[in-house]
Amino acid sequence: MKKKKMEIRKENINDYSDVYNLNKATFEEDEEAKLVDLLRKSSAFIPELSLVAIIDKKIVGHILFTKIKIIDDKGNKNESLALAPMAVVPSLQKKGIGGQLIKTGLEKARKLNFESVIVLGHEKYYPRFGFKPTKQWGITAPWDVPTNVFMGIELVTDGFRNVKGIVQYPKEFDEV
Ligand SMILES: CC(C)(COP(=O)(O)OP(=O)(O)OC[C@H]1O[C@@H](n2cnc3c(N)ncnc32)[C@H](O)[C@@H]1OP(=O)(O)O)[C@@H](O)C(=O)NCCC(=O)NCCS
Repeated sequence: MKKKKMEIRKENINDYSDVYNLNKATFEEDEEAKLVDLLRKSSAFIPELSLVAIIDKKIVGHILFTKIKIIDDKGNKNESLALAPMAVVPSLQKKGIGGQLIKTGLEKARKLNFESVIVLGHEKYYPRFGFKPTKQWGITAPWDVPTNVFMGIELVTDGFRNVKGIVQYPKEFDEV
């Protein structure tokens, strides 16, 4: 069968309900779908970093990056991004769509002058794209999670240099 062409583009207002339904169906609950709705209204939202994957005019994947802060023990704040959530329609998983969304998102984030991205996720998946446990930079999660699932990537050389501390997610992450 001929491989279908996929497009990745910025999400727009007409996509919101499809993205909600995609997240709800993929996660089999509406927590992540509601989180995306809340984050869009927050100051952490960057419209250029809410991306959809389209095949045959249908949304088959979504990824969101929002602004976070990394706060050291003196209260100094550094800006970074959180990759969360991301979803690919179950029937089309393991075909590389998620990977394309991650690569495109990281590239766009770099072009927007962000220096790093943090993700809480599967320890065997995200390292394929260059993510490493944040422990090596002295960056920790605000939740009690195993260190190998809390990862980061430098989008520029030394993106995490002199950045240490605890990640502060947008408050919306605690509201769902
Ligand atoms: C995670 C997700 C977005 C990846 O999308 P995708 O299009 O399937 O990803 P890719 O095709 O690029 O890569 C798939 C590979 O990653 C692995 N992988 C991804 N997430 C994984 C996980 N949570 N646990 C184990 N393996 C995982 C798959 O097993 C697969 O491995 P393979 O290439 O060796 O077969 C998709 O699986 C999904 O929507 N899952 C449900 C929602 C979710 O867990 N989202 C992430 C947390 S926010």
